[in-house]
Order: sequence, then structure tokens, then C-alpha cells
Amino acid sequence: MACILAIETSCDETSVAIVRDRNCVSNVVSSQIAIHRQYGGIVPEVASRSHVETINDAIAQSLIDAKLDWSAIDAIATTCAPGLVGSLLVGLTAAKTLSIIHNKPFLGVHHLEGHIYASYLSQSDLEPPFLCLLVSGGHTSLIYVKDCGKYEIMGATRDDAAGEAFDKVGRLLKLSYPGGPIIDRLAKEGNPKAFKLPEGRVSLPNGGYHPYDSSFSGLKTAVLRLVQQLEGEGGEIPVKDIAASFQDTVARALTKRAIACALDCGLNTITVGGGVAANSELRKQMEAAGITHNLRVLFPPMKYCTDNAAMIGCAAADHFQRGHVSPLTLGVKSRLAI
Ligand code: KG4
Ligand code: ZN
Repeated sequence: MACILAIETSCDETSVAIVRDRNCVSNVVSSQIAIHRQYGGIVPEVASRSHVETINDAIAQSLIDAKLDWSAIDAIATTCAPGLVGSLLVGLTAAKTLSIIHNKPFLGVHHLEGHIYASYLSQSDLEPPFLCLLVSGGHTSLIYVKDCGKYEIMGATRDDAAGEAFDKVGRLLKLSYPGGPIIDRLAKEGNPKAFKLPEGRVSLPNGGYHPYDSSFSGLKTAVLRLVQQLEGEGGEIPVKDIAASFQDTVARALTKRAIACALDCGLNTITVGGGVAANSELRKQMEAAGITHNLRVLFPPMKYCTDNAAMIGCAAADHFQRGHVSPLTLGVKSRLAI
């Protein structure tokens, strides 16, 4: 059994968790969304400063919530890549300092590996192999999970991440940041068939299409043109119908690729993670397709889908049990393949 204190500061959540193997003992998450909303998106410098202000309290709170002291902690882990460099450095520096002060091993964890491990926190019987559809503000990937540390990226976005597309379309529709949850809410009262939008297929040199890669920039441009055309006609913008049509197109594109990939790889389980896993239409379409194709589709609770340190602790616990630790010379990276 490994008890890990884990830190996640790769983007705009300051999070510290204590995890015993696949069990989350405490998970403190302090979101910066309210701060970034006034700028219409994440401002990296503001994010780093906010992590610095919050991290010490979050560490203390994680121990209080878990009713534990440092003697119970076997190792300290932190997200080391990918993410905003200044933000990652806050977590890395805190984790290394704690490792030195308390004389505990240190582990750096890949952020996407954390998202994969989020599924284990709520589904303790889950075992590889399975397919993970990771859809967040920064990532859109289909990851074949073979074992701890053994991953293959089967598909990815060629341009915008799914959450980024939601947020950019939100901005076009003059909605507040982040646009994803607002589009989801408005779409419930809109007609998803009102506008036919392009799904964004990725062409291959042989004239066909990549079966698992996606592209959302064309879809975003199509929404922009539609809004410009409707504005030009002088009528009212049917925001709810546009939201529903856009959301339906994204959900269909993601579901089609995830199901095709799982079937082609002979995998019978798909887990979905990242902030866009909250999307009600994606859930509906993935669950329906899972039933049609006899696949197990797992959506972890939202607290483990969005960025959190519990998922980082869960990944670190598995690595630690296998004898993996990181050197204190480890740095951060804005981009790093999993
Ligand atoms: O995983 P996350 O919290 O942060 C990272 O990007 O790492 O994901 C945030 C993204 C944002 O782009 C947000 O708009 C999107 O998830 N999101 C949603 C919904 N809730 C959050 N997108 C669509 N529908 C939602 N209900
Ligand atoms: Zn993330």
C-alpha cells in the first residue's frame, strides 16, 4: 500500500490530494476560473501567481481533511508536464521542497497519465487494456492504455482541443468564459438539426480520412461564418440552435472516433476524462453507442474528470509500488509525449 501526497498545478486549478493506492483520502481543489473569467481566458502569469498564493494552504488542508500527518505519507508527487511552465514550476518546487524537508521520495507525473488514472479512482475493478477518450480544454486524445506507463496515442486533434472549441464558439456567441458548460445548458433548449456544420475530418494522402484524428478549427470557422451571415441578414442570432447544432457535431465526431478505435483495437472498455466529459450530449451519445456496440463506457465523477491532484496521486501510487521514483533534478516541460 502506498500513501501519496500529490500536487497538480499544470493549468488553472491548485490542487493537493492524499491517495492510498486507488482510494482518494482527501482532494483539495481551488479553481481560478473566477479570476480568469474577467480576461475571457487563462492568463498564464496570473495563474502562476495565484498558485503561489494558494499552494501552502492547500497542502495543509489536504492533511487536515485526511486526518493524517507527514509520518503517514510514503512519497510526494507532482505533475511535471505538460502544462503552463510557470504554473507547473509552483507545484514542482513545492513537491521537491516537501520531499527534502520530510525526507520522502519524489515522483514527477505526466498530466495525461493522471487523467487516465482518474478512472481507477471510481472504478477499482478497472484493469488495462482499455481506451481512454481524454477531452479537456488543452487535450483531445484517444489513448490505448496497455499497462502502467505503457500508452499509445491512437488519435488526437490536429488543431483546437474539444474544450477549446467550445470556449471559442462560446466567445463567438458572446457567452461568458468558459463557454463549454454554458453551451451545454443553452443547447438543451435548441434544435441540434437547425444547422448542418462540418464534422472536421482529417484527410490522408491516399484520399481517405484518418479514422481517429479530429479537427475542430473548421467547425469553429463554420460557426463564425454562420454568425456573420445571420448578423448580416439583420435578424436575431438563434444562439440556442447554434449551440445545440455545434454541440451535437462535436459529440458525434468524438463518439464515432472513440467507438471505431475501441472496436478496431479489440478493446471492450472506454473511459472518458477531461472537462468536456461533463457534456450531456457527449455522455448521451457515448452511452448509446456503448450499448449498441456492447462496449463498457465509463465516465468518472466530474470531480475526477476536471484537473485534480487525486488522479496524479493515483498514477504516482502505481509507479511507486513498482519502485519508480524521480530524481530531484527533474524539470518541467510545456509539451511532452506520454
Ligand atoms: O479538464 P478541464 O477542467 O481543464 C483543462 O483544460 O485541463 O477542462 C476545461 C474545459 C473547458 O474548455 C470547458 O469549457 C470544458 O472543459 N467544459 C465543457 C463542459 N464543462 C466543462 N465543455 C462542454 N460541456 C460541458 N458541460
Ligand atoms: Zn487536464
